[in-house]
Amino acid sequence: MLKHRKDNINNKISKVIPNHLAIIMDGNGRWAEENNLPRYAGHKAGVKTVRMVITESIRVGIGILTLYAFSTENWKRPKQEISSLMGLFEEIIEKEKEELLENKIRIRFMGHREELPLSLRLAMENIEEETKLNNLLLLNIALNYGGRSELCHVFRLLSEEIVQGHIEPSQITQELINKNLLTSGLPDPDLLIRTGGELRISNFLLWQIAYTELWFTKTFWPDFSKKQLWKALTDYEKRVRKFGGKV
Ligand code: FPP
Repeated sequence: MLKHRKDNINNKISKVIPNHLAIIMDGNGRWAEENNLPRYAGHKAGVKTVRMVITESIRVGIGILTLYAFSTENWKRPKQEISSLMGLFEEIIEKEKEELLENKIRIRFMGHREELPLSLRLAMENIEEETKLNNLLLLNIALNYGGRSELCHVFRLLSEEIVQGHIEPSQITQELINKNLLTSGLPDPDLLIRTGGELRISNFLLWQIAYTELWFTKTFWPDFSKKQLWKALTDYEKRVRKFGGKV
């Protein structure tokens, strides 16, 4: 039986409920194909699963939920799919704003913003600002995000610090790298769920998932249910985390 955790972002210690849950929401396109619908309909159908996961995360006391919404590689998709996805992100931000505020959810986006449509960027900045004092759940959305690109950015930044004489190479530590990542200040994910059947990480949070527990399902994202989320959480509860050491 899943143990209820009553604390939130500010109280991070729990062995039974992940404090930070990360999700690769995959299978929208295949769900749409199976249902004879355009791919866009799959993404739209995926929104209700996002809502369910947010609601359940709050209910069980998950503090941080990180969702992989669009990768730096997703630009290779047909132009029409990309523009409908960008439109969908903007629509969701506008539509869900009140509910996010009411439910004390803080939204943060991580990824390259400059390549996104201006109207979307403005909506993102706006909702980040409006929800910045909320603390029941941090909803971290990876949008135009890539793990390798994130690391490249950190390497460039720290090299520049060395060239400028601000730090010595020996001062590059894991803590310093952590501080310069887009997840700076956040604990690493405890559990990573991937739907859609692929058994890979697809450039998501490469540094941060070093000791994250992984959980995969063949279910396409729009069909991912509350029951399956709870199965992932109860499986996680049984995992023995050693972080390279001995229990
Ligand atoms: C991957 O499925 C999914 C995406 C690239 C987009 C995910 C977006 C949403 C669920 C919309 C709501 C999101 C947020 C964060 C508000 P895919 O298209 O790669 O599926 P396939 O592998 O079956 O082709």
